[in-house]
Amino acid sequence: MASKKEIWFATSNAHKVMEAQAYLKTVNIVIHQAKIDVKEIQSPFLEEIATFKAKYAFERTKKPIIAEDAGLFIEALNGFPGPYSSYVYKTLGCEGILKLLTGIEERKAFFKAVIAYTEDGDDVKIFVGKVDGKISRKIRGTMGFGFDPIFIPHGFSKTFAQDSVTKDAISHRRRAFEAFATWFHDQMGHV
Ligand code: IMP
Repeated sequence: MASKKEIWFATSNAHKVMEAQAYLKTVNIVIHQAKIDVKEIQSPFLEEIATFKAKYAFERTKKPIIAEDAGLFIEALNGFPGPYSSYVYKTLGCEGILKLLTGIEERKAFFKAVIAYTEDGDDVKIFVGKVDGKISRKIRGTMGFGFDPIFIPHGFSKTFAQDSVTKDAISHRRRAFEAFATWFHDQMGHV
């Protein structure tokens, strides 16, 4: 059953793959990038987007496959950009978010990642990870991707882009993959 521990990750984002690999190798799961152009739907729910992506990716690969959707939710902006994070990152970027928060003291935010996993394109398992934090006053750091340079996790003073070790240890993605790995090993033990 060793081959069953190999899975695929449908994403064009190499950073996401590296983050997943860094953790999954510690729990004996091999994950490969499936570089397919995954079609995205618009939905207010990350779960719905990730599920759609996983089914779409399975149809093209016929492999046990993960798709993931993530977003940054800012409390003072009623959760914006949330599921629209990708578009907002491309249009406004980190600077645009800082501008929207000019003069706003309340800077609480969280990142959420939803993993959807399917082995048959029909049954889809969902795993969620979240990390609380706040939006920085300035863009800081060069590591990571997306909104990492403006997100400071709770209990820390550096942004994710300044401290990749912390990001790897506590990120939303790490937590979603931890939940996935626990379930994956558990069901492997029962096959
Ligand atoms: P995606 O659609 O799941 O790829 O993610 C939506 C957007 O959220 C990305 O384009 C990033 O801007 C942002 N995002 C998701 N995860 C992270 C992260 O781990 N760090 C920083 N930004 C992220």
